[in-house]
Amino acid sequence: MLSCRICGGRLHEFMDFGRQPLSSGLLEPEYLGDEFFFRLAVGVCGECTMVQLTEEVPRHLMFNSHYPYLSSGSSVMRKHFEGTAQRFLETDLTGKDAFLVELGCNDGVMLRVLAEAGVRHLGVEPSQSVADIARRQGIRVTTEFFQESTAADIRKTEGHAQVIFAANTICHIPYLDSIFRGVDALLAPDGVFVFEDPYLADIVDLASFDQIYDEHYFFFSVSSVSAMAERFGFELVDVERLPVHGGEVRYTIARAGRRAPAPAVAELLERERRRGLSDLKTLKGFVGRVERARDELVSLLRRLRDEGRTVVGYGATAKSATVANYCGIGPDLISFISDTTPNKQGRLTPGSHIPVRSREEFESPYPDYAVLFAWNHAEEIIAKEQQFRASGGKWILYVPDVRVV
Ligand code: SAM
Ligand code: TMP
Ligand code: ZN
Repeated sequence: MLSCRICGGRLHEFMDFGRQPLSSGLLEPEYLGDEFFFRLAVGVCGECTMVQLTEEVPRHLMFNSHYPYLSSGSSVMRKHFEGTAQRFLETDLTGKDAFLVELGCNDGVMLRVLAEAGVRHLGVEPSQSVADIARRQGIRVTTEFFQESTAADIRKTEGHAQVIFAANTICHIPYLDSIFRGVDALLAPDGVFVFEDPYLADIVDLASFDQIYDEHYFFFSVSSVSAMAERFGFELVDVERLPVHGGEVRYTIARAGRRAPAPAVAELLERERRRGLSDLKTLKGFVGRVERARDELVSLLRRLRDEGRTVVGYGATAKSATVANYCGIGPDLISFISDTTPNKQGRLTPGSHIPVRSREEFESPYPDYAVLFAWNHAEEIIAKEQQFRASGGKWILYVPDVRVV
């Protein structure tokens, strides 16, 4: 029997993506030896409603000195995190010698603002590749995995934090019991633990199955996060829906009884309950839509290939690993994927072995079609790639359904 990583309750598996590689494990072309694969499957807990993977990939295989993802790669995300930092500066960080700790600070996209404002901060970032980029900008970072022991060390040398923040990181961590014990050790009595991650309701509504890959261990809802907070002696006191990365929620957690919960918590909880968000029936409906999208995408790509059209991908996202490997899309259907990340270029996508090339190659010459794997950045990308459409090119989207625009 599968059991829930948070509460030990019974886990009901509802979707199996089969054998999948490390989503960020891009390969050197000359190294096509053994690749790591695992079974990517998702289940929902019948007790606490947490949606989660059934298998855990060892963390050092994903987050290490080769981790290529750069948070500053999108101008919309840079603005988003500048706004986030600014808001902390105006609210929880106004006190004398205030201190913020960010888990998974990546290249310092958020902490840069605090560093420039002269506010005490520390990033905890296990992937040395990106931690070094942050450090070079004068941001304080320790290259470690956050867990109970890390938190105790920080508390000893730096004192309590008024804010512990994490974006797109908490859902990556299976060992959340250790994280919460760490937060308990490090957080000031009136401090807040704030994190934002893809929202289960948006994933279900958009059928965005590509949010499911090795790094995304949990798929949070207000219901599952509030139960988890309570279990660990905390309380969910605010929630805010965010438009980034295909729909997220920012959760604010405080020690139980310390802050009055905002009405938004009860409102979203009730909305989730009414629509049966965590019911197996809802989740099985999601699977049906995903299977349809897969079949439509594959037939479209095969038809375009047979007609002799040129098709490339745009954005060698971690998400695209699930799409390519689940749909069986290789270099015969998508000749290359263009991506601006230096450490992805010149490599092959994991499992599917599609070459990754620079942005310059996208326009020399423009292809007939481009599959927008970075669909969560659609507005930004379509706006800056107007020339592609002007020269007759078309985008292929597969979320929320397969369409050519
Ligand atoms: N916060 C950035 C953002 O939103 O763009 C980066 C998100 S990135 C998808 C996830 C980050 O979490 C990676 O940089 C990874 O190294 C880091 N990470 C993974 N496990 C962690 C842990 N236990 N403690 C702190 N960071 C962790
Ligand atoms: P993400 O969806 O996980 O944020 O990943 C976005 C990927 O797409 C990342 O590898 C960078 C790439 N990218 C581009 O190549 N061009 C762009 O304009 C943007 C915004 C992202
Ligand atoms: Zn559970």
